[in-house]
Amino acid sequence: MGKVLVAYSTKHHSTAEIAEVIAVELRAHGIDAECVDVSDATADGYDAVVLGSAVYAGRWRREAVSFLKHQRTELARKPLWIFSSGPVGDKVDEDFTENSRWLEPRKVLDLAESIGLRGHTVFGGRIPTDPHGFVEKSMAKNTPEELRDARNWDVIRQWADGVAAELTSART
Ligand SMILES: Cc1cc2nc3c(=O)[nH]c(=O)nc-3n(C[C@H](O)[C@H](O)[C@H](O)COP(=O)(O)O)c2cc1C
Repeated sequence: MGKVLVAYSTKHHSTAEIAEVIAVELRAHGIDAECVDVSDATADGYDAVVLGSAVYAGRWRREAVSFLKHQRTELARKPLWIFSSGPVGDKVDEDFTENSRWLEPRKVLDLAESIGLRGHTVFGGRIPTDPHGFVEKSMAKNTPEELRDARNWDVIRQWADGVAAELTSART
């Protein structure tokens, strides 16, 4: 396996940190992984792609959706994984199927599946540490401090290990 692109779209940086941990984990498996903001990314020149976006109001960020749409021909030729980062507060332990807001946005999943998808997942997110505007500020205020960062690094690393296992088994 040659080069792997780990592309992310973030507003408040927490998804970038998830992507970076995924890239570090892939590298630990001997994979040449590059972590890039999706706005600066192209699938060209990579052998596999992991793409993640923060979820806001049930949607992926525009840049990540547009990457999927505009690079679909290139992406269809290589293994593709996607992840969303979103659920925070006391929602994290809920069964996600109870509330579609915390699920992978259906339209994104449909699009990625039509391209050809190896896997997808939803990771817990982090309430903005630098909230802008009324909604973000009240979300931060109404979420107890200990529930604001729901990113589980072990879960994230394990998921990356699964991606690495598939990539390295394809190599042999
Ligand atoms: C205004 C607002 C709306 C949000 N809406 C959703 C949502 O619909 N679904 C979800 O899973 N997470 C939602 N979240 C949580 C964010 O996805 C979470 O904070 C994420 O980690 C932010 O990523 P970023 O730091 O990379 O921008 C929302 C957060 C804010 C502040």
